[in-house]
Amino acid sequence: MASFIASPAWQALLAHRDALAGQRIERMWREDPARGEALTFPCAGLAVDLSKQRLARTSASLLANLARERGLPAAIERLFSGARVNASEDRAALHTALRGDERVVLDGTDVLAEVQRLRERMRVFSQAVRDGQWKGATGKRFTHVLALGIGGSSLGPRLAIEALGAEADGPEVRFVANIDAAELDRALAGIDPASTLAVIASKTFTTEETMANAKSVRAWLVAALGPDAPARHVIAATANAEAAADWGLPDCNIFPFHDWVGGRYSLWSSVGLPIAIATGMPRFERLLAGAHAADLEFRSTPLEHNVPALLGLVGVWNRCALGLASHAVLSYASRLESLPAYLQQLEMESNGKHVGADGAPVDFATCPVIWGGTETPGQHAFHQWLHQGTDAASCDFIVVAHPMGSDRAHHEILLANACAQSEALMTGVASDEAWRACTGDRVSTTFVLPRLDAYHLGALLAIYEHKVFVEATVWGINPFDQWGVELGKSIAKKVLPALRGESPALDPSTSHLLSVIRRMGEAG
Ligand code: F6P
Repeated sequence: MASFIASPAWQALLAHRDALAGQRIERMWREDPARGEALTFPCAGLAVDLSKQRLARTSASLLANLARERGLPAAIERLFSGARVNASEDRAALHTALRGDERVVLDGTDVLAEVQRLRERMRVFSQAVRDGQWKGATGKRFTHVLALGIGGSSLGPRLAIEALGAEADGPEVRFVANIDAAELDRALAGIDPASTLAVIASKTFTTEETMANAKSVRAWLVAALGPDAPARHVIAATANAEAAADWGLPDCNIFPFHDWVGGRYSLWSSVGLPIAIATGMPRFERLLAGAHAADLEFRSTPLEHNVPALLGLVGVWNRCALGLASHAVLSYASRLESLPAYLQQLEMESNGKHVGADGAPVDFATCPVIWGGTETPGQHAFHQWLHQGTDAASCDFIVVAHPMGSDRAHHEILLANACAQSEALMTGVASDEAWRACTGDRVSTTFVLPRLDAYHLGALLAIYEHKVFVEATVWGINPFDQWGVELGKSIAKKVLPALRGESPALDPSTSHLLSVIRRMGEAG
């Protein structure tokens, strides 16, 4: 597919940008006080306020023209109907089917029936763990879950369990993603193997970090409870059931999902089992329901007020028309602490691409750097850079209308700060003292969730998933593969034997670095 750069719709958008260039967003607000209502859109119970973006009322239709020109409506249908949109891996990307209720036939199989069957297994198992029917080898109830997995096999469940923490009335879930043994040590500290269930989440069941952690946990269980313990204490969520069986798990401990579920889209599959165990299957299903509501709106709402479409189009606008290379996610909710990390994988692993889906190099910038933090602590750390740094970033403010803690007064201060920061970024401040001046005119979107509950969290995450898809569609890239992460993995396989005393041929820079590390290690 040809680059979007030369397309008439993009050229019209560049002319639109130039026409707006002399106007500050603040001035657009003064001239059009109803701008807020015009540029705030509902989706699945959320409100998304685009009025602090560098957009005019007419921008949405120009952006929608670009989407149409890039074939977005047809691309959405291809996504939802199970077309092989992941061309480099020749796979569909049907994560929407995991939370949907429509019949989708893929390679002659009714996906919906299969999804419902797997979900029923999740329900039965999570309930059995929660009510103590599925017990450990010594007859104890499970009080702890070790969730072993990395990337998409960890970030989603971690985010959801943190976010729904107040409603988590099941066993405590501890996450182990890193290969650094310090993380496993911390997770195992103070817990009893007899009342611990391990969930190995790995799509491939080959990821080095996860398999090493799984092996260590198995040894920990066997040392305490004997060789038969893993059959009661370890389960797997994987698309490679054969490897899980080879690892020693009985069929009933393996919760499969399909290879058409991408790792960073797998939260909705059996990878979500820790969520169901911690918060109950009904809450996990509310998460799915919120995501499904966002899916329906994405599929059916006209592009001019289709929230995921507009967010993706504004992402392209900010990156390619305004040249913003950095995007900050500002969570005004302690319980959304993991959201920036989750979105970092979702967006950067999906759209951090330098060639189009056809393999030809792109002639434009793709995914910005995604980063962020929990607010208000971030205000006392990196907001200085947002306000006065030499590079401008776009920001997403995530705000929850209902209080999340016991003290309403705290929540009011939290909300006041969220509103103040987005205003300050937009208005800036003039001053005779140069060090006090803030240029302002820095763009942001504010997402307002009525409550931080499973339904609205599901909707928020699905909206972001579709935003990423829209950007990829305009850019003509494949958001569903991640070949870039393979190179480092294969080099690590050569470096490890060298660390262990063998002498494989290594790049001289790596040999040098290893010798420095060895010297420091020997020096104690
Ligand atoms: O880092 C690459 C990646 O493949 C991610 O896409 C994925 O979420 C993660 O590794 C974990 O992979 P797996 O679920 O196969 O263990």
